[in-house]
Amino acid sequence: MTRTVAPETIDVTLGARSYPVWIGRGLLDDHARWRAALRGRHVLVISNHTVAPLYLERVARGLDGLQWSSFLLDDGEAHKSFANVGHALQALATLGATRDACVIALGGGVVGDLAGFTAACWMRGIDFIQMPTTLLSMVDSSVGGKTGVNLPAGKNLVGAFHQPRAVIADIGTLDSLPEREYRAGLAEVIKGAAIGDTAFFAWLEAHADALQRRDETALVQAIATKVRYKAGVVARDETEQGERALLNLGHTFGHALETAGRYTTLLHGEGVAVGMLLAARLSERLGMSGAEDSARLTQLLQAAGLPTAVPAGFDPEQLLGLMRLDKKNTAGTLRLILWRGIGQAEIVTGVNEADVLAVLREATN
Ligand code: NAD
Ligand code: GLY
Repeated sequence: MTRTVAPETIDVTLGARSYPVWIGRGLLDDHARWRAALRGRHVLVISNHTVAPLYLERVARGLDGLQWSSFLLDDGEAHKSFANVGHALQALATLGATRDACVIALGGGVVGDLAGFTAACWMRGIDFIQMPTTLLSMVDSSVGGKTGVNLPAGKNLVGAFHQPRAVIADIGTLDSLPEREYRAGLAEVIKGAAIGDTAFFAWLEAHADALQRRDETALVQAIATKVRYKAGVVARDETEQGERALLNLGHTFGHALETAGRYTTLLHGEGVAVGMLLAARLSERLGMSGAEDSARLTQLLQAAGLPTAVPAGFDPEQLLGLMRLDKKNTAGTLRLILWRGIGQAEIVTGVNEADVLAVLREATN
């Protein structure tokens, strides 16, 4: 990080359930700001064994005078599990949490998704606050209220729409984020531009170096622009009846890649990066977009230090089988997010499996 810039506030506008997303350095210590979002006396902080030693104490200082406890997950996607929701609910029971209790999610998307789902389940829904500590969770998972956990059959198969009361994105926490995780977050920033914002895509091309260096001015602008874009989509289509599905550009391919790699070969953001490129190539094959759009996407992903190839040894037939499980599909047909070029994502139903397989085969050769 190179310098300190003023915090940004973006509102997710959902009537009585509207909430602010605050982005800035040092916000974890701005207790007055986030304590205003707490309504009751009970707080459960959900975090993990990597993040809690770094940041829990700073959050705890803001919980003075309240009855609170913490529940810590082991680190990793494998722990975004139903079993751990059960343990977290038990922690709320032990705390004696009432209906005005609040769950605080302190961590990346794994913690945020599980904590949000726990809050959605306890007494049919209590408040929760997102304190995202990865770039990916700041620009994507903490905003918009998608919560849930994985099943052995697939990622995010169980969940609920449950909006947080506030999102506190303290960019100072990114100082300790490993480089690979930081780059995975950049994939979700690029995704927003690729879906629906040509000017932002060009801005990212021009600021790729600054973002690689974690220049704070560029970083806050990139996070705020992506969050503003996502907040607009969520406000128009909270429960994904239409437009919100566009936010899944690259996800059907990406989730298949993540699952095939047993969540250890590719990080979520890396899966999205490769997945977006496969979606671009499929769009090209279907005559929806030109080669120059795929080339610009490849260059931007590479400039952000992200993978642009399917890892060696992946089986195209297996990947296609995993893609059939995606939540966006309707019975018997593949429904994918493709594009007509940069900034023009589109929902396409009835995609021919032979075309998908051809793109997967090309990418695994
Ligand atoms: P993550 O939560 O696993 O965090 C990545 C790694 O960074 C972990 O090892 C974590 O312990 C560590 N970490 C977190 N903050 C740190 C910090 N400040 N310093 C050092 N280490 C830190 O992964 P993620 O990329 O944040 O999130 C991925 C998850 O988010 C996936 O489960 C994905 O499905 C989900 N997701 C959800 C949505 C949504 O809308 N709900 C959107 C995108 C992704
Ligand atoms: N990450 C996709 C969504 O929030 O809808």
